[in-house]
Amino acid sequence: MKPIITLAGLVLALTATAVEAEPIVIKFSHVVAEDTPKGKGALLFKKLVEERLPGQVSVEVYPNSTLFGDANELEALANDEVQLLAPSLAKFEKYTKQVQVFDLPFLFDDLEAVNRFQKRAKGRQLLRSMEKENITGLAYWHNGMKQLSATKALMLPSDAMGLAFRIQPSAVLESQFAQVGAPTKKIPFAEVYTSLQNGTVQGAENPWSNIYSKKMHTVQPYITESNHGVLDYMLVSNTRFWFGIPHQIRTELEGIIDEVTFEVNRAAEEANQADRERIRKAGTSEIIELTPEQREAWREAMRPVWQEFEPVIGADIIKAAQTVNRKQRN
Ligand code: SIN
Repeated sequence: MKPIITLAGLVLALTATAVEAEPIVIKFSHVVAEDTPKGKGALLFKKLVEERLPGQVSVEVYPNSTLFGDANELEALANDEVQLLAPSLAKFEKYTKQVQVFDLPFLFDDLEAVNRFQKRAKGRQLLRSMEKENITGLAYWHNGMKQLSATKALMLPSDAMGLAFRIQPSAVLESQFAQVGAPTKKIPFAEVYTSLQNGTVQGAENPWSNIYSKKMHTVQPYITESNHGVLDYMLVSNTRFWFGIPHQIRTELEGIIDEVTFEVNRAAEEANQADRERIRKAGTSEIIELTPEQREAWREAMRPVWQEFEPVIGADIIKAAQTVNRKQRN
């Protein structure tokens, strides 16, 4: 007997095919320029996804706070208005206190130490610290170590007294500057350049790539190469969205994220050093290199922040982070 194909059956089958054919759209929003470690990572992710999952997933990248900025991007993620973000680690304070470990001043000697911590169990555990908030951490991406910039030369902690610094929304960073007598203002990244230019604040802390790509060196005559903290990112998605992606596609996406993460983290330090050199050549800011004694004075001045935040971050996490430095000290 011949199978009977009804019109209704045909319509249903065609509709199902059409529904299946709709690609999953991933909007990836971020606040920095495209020519930065995060900006390049977002574009590489888009390229690889569209090569390997054509017609199944499409990626839209929105740099420079053009879709969402610091003030609303994590809410937008919760509402599924955006599906991928990579906020700097300081921006998760509202959702987890543990991730604040990354903001502690002078905790990590360099980016390699940060890398080691992020790969160890305690570091990886932090990727899952916001799952109750419907935020899943997929990877850590490096930017680089932060430098202090200001309208005056900062050699010793006392030089910062009374200067107002722009900070990210982090109590740790507020306390870090309070230790050296400097008031702070929490300002979204998109407004940092203007705030420095119009004198709302006199100083800031940023990696070289953010200073250069946002032209901050043109309004900050002094940059102290302090390497006093790290500015890294957590690539995050909305947990329900992410685990709702069909398994095979999600596995492919996770493989791509691993590849992009490797590339971003491999290239970040080099990109920061290239931007340092561009700033030096521009000649708009004096780059101050601290002597070991001067750097130690900043470390001593800011070190009390560790004790202050130990109860909220957790002594175990701070200890684990300390052990990744090659040179062990208190
Ligand atoms: C970023 O690199 O995403 C911005 C960090 C900041 O707000 O300083």
